[in-house]
Amino acid sequence: LNGGKWNGEACECPDNFEGDRCQYVANVCHNGGSWDGLKCQCTILFHGPKCEDVVDAVPRSVAALMDLSVTVTSQQYNTKLENRSSEEFKNFNTTFTDQMNQIYAGIPEYEGVNITRLRPGSVVVEHEVLLRTNYTPEYRQVLERASQDVMEKIVKATQVQISNSNNNFLLCFNSTATTVSSTPIVQYDPEEECRELAKDYAAYFTLEYKDQKPYCVTPCMTGFNVSLDCHNGQCQLQPSGPRCNCLITATHWYQGETCEWGIQKSLVYGLTGASAVVLLLILVILLVFALHSRRVAKKEKFRVSQLFKWYEDGGRSIPGTIWNANFDIREDFAHLDSIYGNFQPSLDNVDSRAKVAWPGDWPPFP
Ligand SMILES: *[C@@H]1O[C@H](CO)[C@@H](O)[C@H](O)[C@H]1NC(C)=O
Ligand SMILES: *[C@@H]1O[C@H](CO)[C@@H](O)[C@H](O)[C@H]1NC(C)=O
Ligand SMILES: *[C@@H]1O[C@H](CO)[C@@H](O)[C@H](O)[C@H]1NC(C)=O
Ligand SMILES: *[C@@H]1O[C@H](CO)[C@@H](O)[C@H](O)[C@H]1NC(C)=O
Ligand SMILES: *[C@@H]1O[C@H](CO)[C@@H](O)[C@H](O)[C@H]1NC(C)=O
Repeated sequence: LNGGKWNGEACECPDNFEGDRCQYVANVCHNGGSWDGLKCQCTILFHGPKCEDVVDAVPRSVAALMDLSVTVTSQQYNTKLENRSSEEFKNFNTTFTDQMNQIYAGIPEYEGVNITRLRPGSVVVEHEVLLRTNYTPEYRQVLERASQDVMEKIVKATQVQISNSNNNFLLCFNSTATTVSSTPIVQYDPEEECRELAKDYAAYFTLEYKDQKPYCVTPCMTGFNVSLDCHNGQCQLQPSGPRCNCLITATHWYQGETCEWGIQKSLVYGLTGASAVVLLLILVILLVFALHSRRVAKKEKFRVSQLFKWYEDGGRSIPGTIWNANFDIREDFAHLDSIYGNFQPSLDNVDSRAKVAWPGDWPPFP
């Protein structure tokens, strides 16, 4: 069905259909993606035609902050500078940022400055210098070196300003008032970065180091400690968590949490057939038995009715028979049984040698 082809052993289904006859619409999109009729709409972390590829799940960069303070002497302090939304602040910010960008040009890790506070005196600028570098096992040394460069450059810039006519300085500084925090504060939390990267799937992502590199991984990614082995299936990250989707091949069904159980289809068919045969046999035996017991019951009923007949008609009509009118066979058959059951002929007192004389010459026994 659906454009599948029979290859002599099994159906070869087109991409978006599956099943032994290609009768099911396949969820071809992995990792929580969904088929929109034309292509897979992948979730945030995945890409590719089937959402099979993970968007660079390695935490990529490490940031660091340096706290600095410089004193600008070329500007008058104004209380409006305290309002970050004011024109005055915006203008000062633009000039200051441009000046700093000039000073730190040449430091590849330099990312920018952020004014944290402006104080009078003339204008004391407390600010942060942002540094960022790619993640490598040596990121600490790289950031350390960059912060040394920043320190040297700002100190030099505030000391040698103006004197150099080639430098078009925008601001003048008090050369002795510059302070720099000694070490950069590394803003590096790969686990946090991993969670941010994973968004809604954060609960299923963990950070794992491999070759000294952090990887943001799910159990559905192969080659990590947390990797889920789906044996004969495919791992899919769903909103409810990672799951193994087991394969159904032409000859086998795979089952179990990680598709570890394989059942041969022919075996299942065989067992089902055998069970059906056994069931049928039991049914036939039961039927035969039922018929037989019905016939026996019928026979018994007939005998009992004959017995009644004898009591009611024959018993009464034969002369010399004792008929106990109080005894009702119909009421208590068991009673009759117990009477005869307790009957013991007592022959102990009989003299077997004594001759029995009968009136007349009629010996009953030779
Ligand atoms: C800050 O400046 C903005 C724009 O000039 C102004 O609307 C706002 O009222 C100021 N806020 C304060 C607290 O002065
Ligand atoms: C200061 O200026 C820079 C560059 O013009 C800008 O990116 C930044 O957002 C500004 N800061 C504030 C607090 O306005
Ligand atoms: C810049 O500093 C302000 C004030 O401390 C802070 O609220 C803001 O988050 C900082 N911006 C960045 C990009 O660090
Ligand atoms: C520069 O800063 C130092 C230390 O804060 C201070 O003693 C000195 O008076 C300042 N110079 C000027 C010209 O403001
Ligand atoms: C992963 O497994 C290796 C070897 O078994 C081990 O050295 C490493 O610490 C494990 N990593 C994690 C994150 O558990």
